[in-house]
Amino acid sequence: MRIENKIAIVTGASSGIGKEFSKKLVSKGAIVFGLARRLNKLKLIQEEIGNKFIPVEMDITIPDEIEKWVNSTFSEDYLPHILINNAGLGYFGNVDELSVNDWNTMINTNLNGVFYLTRKIVPLMKINSDHCHIFNIASVAGLLGNPQISGYNATKFGLRGFSEALFKELRFDNIKVTTMFPGSIATEFFNTADGSGTHPNMLQAKDVADTLIHILETPNNFLINEITLRPLNPKNPDTK
Ligand SMILES: NC(=O)c1ccc[n+]([C@@H]2O[C@H](COP(=O)([O-])OP(=O)(O)OC[C@H]3O[C@@H](n4cnc5c(N)ncnc54)[C@H](OP(=O)(O)O)[C@@H]3O)[C@@H](O)[C@H]2O)c1
Repeated sequence: MRIENKIAIVTGASSGIGKEFSKKLVSKGAIVFGLARRLNKLKLIQEEIGNKFIPVEMDITIPDEIEKWVNSTFSEDYLPHILINNAGLGYFGNVDELSVNDWNTMINTNLNGVFYLTRKIVPLMKINSDHCHIFNIASVAGLLGNPQISGYNATKFGLRGFSEALFKELRFDNIKVTTMFPGSIATEFFNTADGSGTHPNMLQAKDVADTLIHILETPNNFLINEITLRPLNPKNPDTK
């Protein structure tokens, strides 16, 4: 895909990799609708990168709000080309310590929210005469179960299944579906997940965004449907 003048939607655009995806897409000439709950953060990004970044205050766990926004933003004359389902969070801890509320928040954000938005965008992509591309940001936690992340694992394994089905369902409509499985990335994610913070050997958001751009720019009939990204050496350099 040639990214210039394409219309993109990025969820979780207020921080971390969603912010970097948005910056890289705008620098390539795309128009980016950045969705997140923290409008103040989105507005700061717009101040930094300009009006091709459009802040949208949205909680993706509310299907009616998504439906209203999609219906009032897009039409047959204004169709999206790129959807990046990135918003997500984790609550880590042993299963007997994981609250029902935290479990439900993870399922509602990482899985249900992806469905709520995707089901409204796919019909618009189907009538778009250009090729379109959906990215689902999973995690290595979508490939490997591990102690203390059972709930997060469940959402990301679920997202992998959803994504693989979509890839096979939409390929003949000229819609690519790519699932990304990154290892640890230095973002705010770890403030919520376990309060452990970040370290320099984690993946850097800008490098993850460069990979996304590379995948988007592949030729139309060339699909990278799954990609795993890892730090070569994942150890915190400050620990012996
Ligand atoms: N960091 C990692 O190590 C890592 C590794 C693999 C995969 N991932 C995945 O990468 C994605 C992005 O995470 P990140 O690392 O960039 O973390 P982050 O900096 O914490 O960003 C998470 C984003 O999700 C948004 N969000 C959360 N709940 C939302 C909701 N209900 N509605 C709308 N937006 C919501 C947040 O915005 P608001 O708070 O403003 O709503 C924020 O912009 C997630 O899906 C995560 O699971 C992260």
